[in-house]
Amino acid sequence: MYNSMDMINSSAVSSSIALVFIAAVITKVAWGRITADPASRNTLPHPPAVSGSSVIPLLHTLVTKGFRAMLQEQYTKFGSVFTISFLGMKTTFLVGPEVSAHFYQGPESEISHGSFLEFTVPMLGKDVGYGVDIATRTEQNRFYLDVLKPAKLRCHVAPMLQEVEKYFAKWGQQGTVDLKQELEQLLMLISARCLLGKEVREKMFGEVFSAFHELTENSLQLTSLLFPYAPTLTTRRRDRASARLSSIFAEIVRSRKSSNRVEEDVLQNLIGSKYKDGRPTTEAEGKHTSTATSTWTGARLLSHTECLEAALEEQQQIVKKHGDNIDYDTLLEMSFLHCCIKEALRMHPPAPIFLRKVHKNFTVRTREGYEYEIPKGHTIASPLVINHNIPYIYKDLDVYDPHRFGPGREEDRVGGKFTYNAFSGGRHACPGEAYAYMQVKVIWSHLLRNFELKLVSPFPRDRLAKACPRT
Ligand code: HEM
Ligand SMILES: *[C@@H]1O[C@H](CO)[C@@H](O)[C@H](O)[C@H]1NC(C)=O
Repeated sequence: MYNSMDMINSSAVSSSIALVFIAAVITKVAWGRITADPASRNTLPHPPAVSGSSVIPLLHTLVTKGFRAMLQEQYTKFGSVFTISFLGMKTTFLVGPEVSAHFYQGPESEISHGSFLEFTVPMLGKDVGYGVDIATRTEQNRFYLDVLKPAKLRCHVAPMLQEVEKYFAKWGQQGTVDLKQELEQLLMLISARCLLGKEVREKMFGEVFSAFHELTENSLQLTSLLFPYAPTLTTRRRDRASARLSSIFAEIVRSRKSSNRVEEDVLQNLIGSKYKDGRPTTEAEGKHTSTATSTWTGARLLSHTECLEAALEEQQQIVKKHGDNIDYDTLLEMSFLHCCIKEALRMHPPAPIFLRKVHKNFTVRTREGYEYEIPKGHTIASPLVINHNIPYIYKDLDVYDPHRFGPGREEDRVGGKFTYNAFSGGRHACPGEAYAYMQVKVIWSHLLRNFELKLVSPFPRDRLAKACPRT
């Protein structure tokens, strides 16, 4: 591995690079803006670009200040559309709702996931997710749509509540817990119960849990995301965990088939299909994202007395109205808690950036009226870390403020459909959104009603605030 600090510190090289950088940026900006004048329409310019040695200061910011700061700098400098060229790969960033419609809605023949979700292939196995072609994937997603649709969601509430009550009964009267670890365990139990079925929940829980844990810990790291097939310790561990899970699930499928048993769960949907073996697809991701979401919601709530009190007040009102009973409809009434989760997701989106491949030239028009052509072959990126922090959309964006999504403000609609992207949008919008909100609400309404909580550790660090691939 190269250390970019060393490269920058070799002084003679450093000053000449700095000069090239400044010169390059000034010319590129000037070129982009002048030709982007809406008056000259025949030849649309490409977006302003950073390439060659000008990328070095960018890497420096990435290492010292983090991913978000690096993109924020480029956004401030260039505006909502810019290209970063690195190692022969051109990635064009589309920031904000005005330039995002085609990214999210363009037909698969023009804009696709391409090979950029390749990291989910080693993580989840070749027969599911992004290792299969689009038709097969659409079919697989239909199974999820089925288990996750509102009529089925209602049936998940009671088992979720049982798992939650049983789990927190173990906490006793008082003590100190590692919230993230606890929530991860609990969410695994809920997934096992609601999505994977009885065998996993009752017999193989320990084994499945540790394999899942290894899989997500070792897959969702910056290094694995950028270089999915690199022969590192992390990728080896991930592949081992993935293989272990596959064989566990294949075993369940075999035993169900031989005894002609039918269960109502995702696993069964996969067996019921024409696929030979049912592997866990999105559970690993769905559980991971929900763990992050419920942990951040907790961390934020427990550090904002006013929000915590408002959330408690809402629970008290609901208890007054419905007693201790919680069902699908009472969960829908928890609109403030809903906004608390949504705001935690705005500030800490578990999927911080989406990538796609361009198969056909297209044009975008920025809020300021500049037009650019994005050519075929570019990678395009929708960086949520910036989209969720645009000052003309989100007021006081560094403040945790769930009310911003409430009646009268609805900041997530200010720029139209693609203003808020925590669950993506358009063609590949997350089908698990309602299910995810439901399970996080079941957990937090229980905690709010039954415990007095206090954050005793320092506020957790967001790994994207500072690039630190190893932690
Ligand atoms: C807070 C929790 C969650 C968040 C923030 C989240 C977010 C996302 C995002 C951003 C995508 C799109 C990725 C892209 O466009 O490249 C996605 C896709 C998906 N999610 Fe979720 N998700 C969550 C929970 C879940 C759960 C619990 C499930 C299922 C049990 C689930 C099932 C799926 C599926 C099947 C897809 C693929 C959709 C497609 O490719 O068309 N998600 N999720
Ligand atoms: C697409 O863009 C490239 C590069 O700007 C250009 O050479 C090509 O002619 C364009 N193709 C079409 C079909 O417009």
